[in-house]
Amino acid sequence: MFKLFRNLKPYTLAVIATVILVVAGALTELYLPTLMADIVDKGIVRGDTAYILRVGAVMLAVALGGMACAVVSAFLSARVGMGFGRDLRRKVFTRVEGFSLHEFDLIGTPSLITRTTNDITQVQMFTMIVMRMLIMAPIMAIGGVVMALQKDARLTWVLAVVIPILAVVITLIAGRAMPLFKAIQAKIDRINLVLREGLTGVRVIRAFNRIEHEKKRFDAANMDLTATSIRVNKLMALMFPLMMLLMNVTTVAIIWFGAKRIDLGEMQVGSLMAFIQYAMQIMFSLLMVSFLFIMLPRAAASAGRINEVLDVTPGIKDAEKARAPGAERGHIEFRGVTFAYPGAEEPALRDISFDAKPGEVTAIIGGTGSGKSTLVNLIPRFYDVASGSIRVDGVDIREMEQETLRGKLGFVSQKAVLFNDTIANNIRFGREDATDEEVARAAETAQAREFILAMPDGFQSVIAQGGTNVSGGQKQRIAIARALVRGPEIYIFDDTFSALDFATDARLRAALKKETAEATVIIVAQRVNTVMDADRIIVLDDGAVVGMGTHKELIRSCEVYREIVSSQLSEEELA
Ligand SMILES: Nc1ncnc2c1ncn2[C@@H]1O[C@H](COP(=O)(O)OP(=O)(O)O)[C@@H](O)[C@H]1O
Ligand SMILES: [Mg+2]
Repeated sequence: MFKLFRNLKPYTLAVIATVILVVAGALTELYLPTLMADIVDKGIVRGDTAYILRVGAVMLAVALGGMACAVVSAFLSARVGMGFGRDLRRKVFTRVEGFSLHEFDLIGTPSLITRTTNDITQVQMFTMIVMRMLIMAPIMAIGGVVMALQKDARLTWVLAVVIPILAVVITLIAGRAMPLFKAIQAKIDRINLVLREGLTGVRVIRAFNRIEHEKKRFDAANMDLTATSIRVNKLMALMFPLMMLLMNVTTVAIIWFGAKRIDLGEMQVGSLMAFIQYAMQIMFSLLMVSFLFIMLPRAAASAGRINEVLDVTPGIKDAEKARAPGAERGHIEFRGVTFAYPGAEEPALRDISFDAKPGEVTAIIGGTGSGKSTLVNLIPRFYDVASGSIRVDGVDIREMEQETLRGKLGFVSQKAVLFNDTIANNIRFGREDATDEEVARAAETAQAREFILAMPDGFQSVIAQGGTNVSGGQKQRIAIARALVRGPEIYIFDDTFSALDFATDARLRAALKKETAEATVIIVAQRVNTVMDADRIIVLDDGAVVGMGTHKELIRSCEVYREIVSSQLSEEELA
């Protein structure tokens, strides 16, 4: 929590100003009842109009000053709180952008989202309130006691009785409310989760007629949150009348005993009135403190969650002294690469060695879960290898700047990701300064031009969030165009062609061949058709290479490959 507040540094001046203003405001509040007592005791009682007007003017000035302090400090604390929130959001976002995929797996994308939004909002609110209450409350409490003592030391025994009772009541209620507030936070998380799944999975839910089931699931989470919130609110609802009761009883007691002292001529009416006000101020400040104690655990939990994100040191960083790649253009070498996902018992890849050279097509084939995606994800350094090495153009990719490495790559991931923008801009994501002609040409090669032009706004059509207004195959083709427009040295297609029909697949590969003649091409596929004419086919099975060579060679030598082929091709095609 305190660690997080170090980020308040740029706001030091504003924080100090707020503190000064809050202190000034508190002091004026403490001064006002005394002035009032003076007016009553010295002005009204003696009938001294001039005195009343003079002190009245002072009182007005003090009240206005206090108001100004309150307004300005509220303004400042709001600015500090909001600015602090903005800085934290920026910091978390920047940090997360630097994460390797491993760290994403670790914390989880939905949680990263709640941490950047909800948790930071909590901390921001807390900062705003704390800056004022935390300082205000003790001044009012201690100042109130001092002033009350000055007004009438004998009457303070009433306070000595009431304040402990108040403290006990507050502790009892806050003690019960605090865990409930914490539970509410977890329950909000749960609702987020159910809601998210319900929204993103809406097609599946409908297709399987699970709407009722999902409704029940949501209702359960919703009711749970409601029930807890109601319990907290019941407690809070109890707190308010109890406080009022206590305050009123205190007032009555003060008036009762004060009146006796006034009768005896030991106290004046104005002092009694002032005394009552000080008693109220003390009790209110205690309430403020209790409020802070209720807010604290919630904010602390949020701060912890934010710190967790900020404390992650990304596992993948640029080397201290980055080496420039050699003169080759796109030569990939795998040397005895072994890799395991964090927490996995078995390595996902074992002792993989191969070369992929410029001007060649290297295909990777294997069943689902055999490690194909894992293998190609190692090339952009989304993860680091456990042992062995991957070299690109003669340099180990761990010694290369990530930007240099990724600048060489045109990566099309297994799941095409498009952004909520025009199609042209989605393609231009590959290279910002691509001209309209280049974009059109990339789309043409990717066999995407036809369907793009058939859309109402052509290249200016906007892709819906999550790419729901284009089909899976269309999405893939736009993603391929995005890689093509980059004109990279190395192309990586991770199972990009499986969403295409055979005819489009064939046309696309023929067109690609021309475009990528000089580049290194790695194609991951499950269809034999797609890989058949590659220069080198790597057969993966359970994370290990079980065969490597051309189609013809593998048919003869590799059992696994033969099985794949015979399950997909007819006898004539085989011959
Ligand atoms: N992010 C991940 N964390 C842990 N295990 C993973 C992760 N991604 C994939 N795996 C595991 O690694 C293995 C290979 O997966 P993958 O490379 O996606 O296979 P393929 O692309 O050949 O279908 C699978 O057993 C899968 O469960
Ligand atoms: Mg895959």
